[in-house]
Amino acid sequence: MTNKNVSKREVQDFWGSLYDSLYDDVDGQLTRDQLFKGIDALEDMFRLRSYMAVEEMPLNRLQGKKVLEIGPGAGGHSALFAKYGAIMVSADLTKSRALATQAKFDLMADAAEGCQAMQSDAENLPFADNSFDIVYSNGVLHHTPDTERSIDEVYRVLKPGGQAVIMLYCKSSWHYWINMFLGVGLLTGKIFTGPNWLGRATEWGGKNDQTVTNPITRCYTAGGCRRLFKHFEGVSLRKSEFYIYLIPKLGRLYRRWQTKRYGTHPGGILVYGEPWPISSPLEFWLGKYIGWDWFISARKPKA
Ligand SMILES: C[S@@+](CC[C@H](N)C(=O)[O-])C[C@H]1O[C@@H](n2cnc3c(N)ncnc32)[C@H](O)[C@@H]1O
Repeated sequence: MTNKNVSKREVQDFWGSLYDSLYDDVDGQLTRDQLFKGIDALEDMFRLRSYMAVEEMPLNRLQGKKVLEIGPGAGGHSALFAKYGAIMVSADLTKSRALATQAKFDLMADAAEGCQAMQSDAENLPFADNSFDIVYSNGVLHHTPDTERSIDEVYRVLKPGGQAVIMLYCKSSWHYWINMFLGVGLLTGKIFTGPNWLGRATEWGGKNDQTVTNPITRCYTAGGCRRLFKHFEGVSLRKSEFYIYLIPKLGRLYRRWQTKRYGTHPGGILVYGEPWPISSPLEFWLGKYIGWDWFISARKPKA
């Protein structure tokens, strides 16, 4: 489903504004030593959460592989894959995000040899057909106006037999139906403001006041994901990530208690601009059934 009412400029303005507000103070002062410690902490946090970046991504087989990350944001995931020897190409629509990712490769120097970040659009990737062993994208393609076209681009640039590792938001989740649809959509009336209400309902996580709204967010059922990946084979879907603190209003109180009870993990600093509040065992468990993320792995058939 295309949304022609949303321009790429609006997408860039939102993510540029949110991420500058989240990362400016982290990125501005990052040293090489802190970056390597940050990457190790990030990997540790991902392992604790069984996150896609360490589960669906074959980290121990990345050496020498050509990997495209679409929408690297802060560049933490790309830096982790570079540490494992991947030859990264990291493409973000928002220029400041491409620059921030390149800055991390530059700090890594020899450890990220051959890696580069650039500004480019998931819907029109500037790469030849059959170029990459793996295409990875975490929480990006549901924010672009034409998600179907971006998945078709993933397929086009993958080598035959190559793997797509993609996170998309999940519609059959607590977060969509209870927090968003009921809590924000119906109770605040946002659902009546037009087709992109879900984007406008997204909570602002920035440290500054919000001046622009998120122009588009979509979420998918299992069937919707399978339709998007119809040209691929071996499509696997895994649900994860349930957070009580995302419940509007109430969640803030819970988060304070959660932080005291379970602590925070420094792995969040590189990718969220702050430590990650460690989830409770109940949240980890519920994530498998009613989580907000689909971790998708799929292969382009061999020729
Ligand atoms: C939610 S952030 C995810 C960042 C990162 N992947 C992560 O997990 O932390 C979305 C990112 O996607 C980028 N983005 C949005 N639409 C894009 C498009 N059409 N092509 C490339 N990047 C895009 C934004 O600029 C932003 O950096």
